[in-house]
Amino acid sequence: MEGRLANKVAIVTGGGTGIGEAICKKFAREGARVVVCGFPEDPVEEVAKAIREEGGTAISFTGDISLEPNAKRCVELAVKQYGQLDILINNAGVFPATSLLQDYPTEAFEYMLKNNVASTFMMSRAALPELHKTHGNIISAGSEAGLIGIAQNTPYGGTKGFNHAFMRGLAVEQAQFGVRCNCVCPGPIDTAWTHKETGPMDKEMEQSMIQATPLGRRGTPEEVANVYAFLASDEASYVTGALYFVDGGVTVAKGPVGDKVKGSLKKEPNGTLKTEHSLDGHTQIREEHQ
Ligand SMILES: NC(=O)c1ccc[n+]([C@@H]2O[C@H](COP(=O)([O-])OP(=O)(O)OC[C@H]3O[C@@H](n4cnc5c(N)ncnc54)[C@H](O)[C@@H]3O)[C@@H](O)[C@H]2O)c1
Repeated sequence: MEGRLANKVAIVTGGGTGIGEAICKKFAREGARVVVCGFPEDPVEEVAKAIREEGGTAISFTGDISLEPNAKRCVELAVKQYGQLDILINNAGVFPATSLLQDYPTEAFEYMLKNNVASTFMMSRAALPELHKTHGNIISAGSEAGLIGIAQNTPYGGTKGFNHAFMRGLAVEQAQFGVRCNCVCPGPIDTAWTHKETGPMDKEMEQSMIQATPLGRRGTPEEVANVYAFLASDEASYVTGALYFVDGGVTVAKGPVGDKVKGSLKKEPNGTLKTEHSLDGHTQIREEHQ
């Protein structure tokens, strides 16, 4: 396929659901050959299959990539299958609990350290030797919460703040090898995490999240994927060490400004990607991956 990512090979972690699914499909449309990576329970093969059916190129990889051997295997698979690696997207992450810190479960904190922090470290380290060869780039999932914090899930904001600082340091040290490193920092996105029915937020949290967002709605996974595609492409050849906020303005807002938005302006755009697993994300702690 022709496109901004033609001839590129990309690994997308957490590629089976939510924002990751949209990134995989967007990248494939832009011509990349994609390794859709996720936990064994994730619909990664379904996403890869859907891409192939649309004429794109994709394979799936299953494994917990916060563990060093799995991170290495994932990179090896990309190189074995497609001969190179140009783009690493560290999108995998978890959001397992909300509560005031005095009641915050230790296991939820440790689960985030593993899946939000260790996963980024392990995959980036495993991918760098290949990215040196291609002068590729890494984009990690940050968050507006990583900049301004998030009440009732304070450790989550901390793990995303790690990703911001980690990627900025990496941008400086890896520039000499021709590797760019950036973060995409979403605001409230329409995935399992931000719906009270499928995630750990209660009704009040869900409501105040939208009220605090100037655009007055959640973003779609595709709206986030569009920014990943730009940053991953050669169009962003002078962008490194950047935090790109895709947040509906929530980071700069004060008060319930989202309430000012009325009617059709609150409607999410239809987009062009057929994403099917936005509400399939697992927000509970999975025993087998603790
Ligand atoms: N949804 C939001 O509002 C929002 C806001 C800010 C940032 N983000 C970030 O965007 C990313 C995607 O979030 P989402 O809402 O699409 O969630 P999601 O749960 O739909 O997707 C995350 C995926 O990562 C996978 N995963 C987690 N740890 C893994 C590991 N160790 N190995 C393999 N796979 C693993 C999960 O199984 C899941 O499929 C996350 O990093 C999140 O922090 C999301």
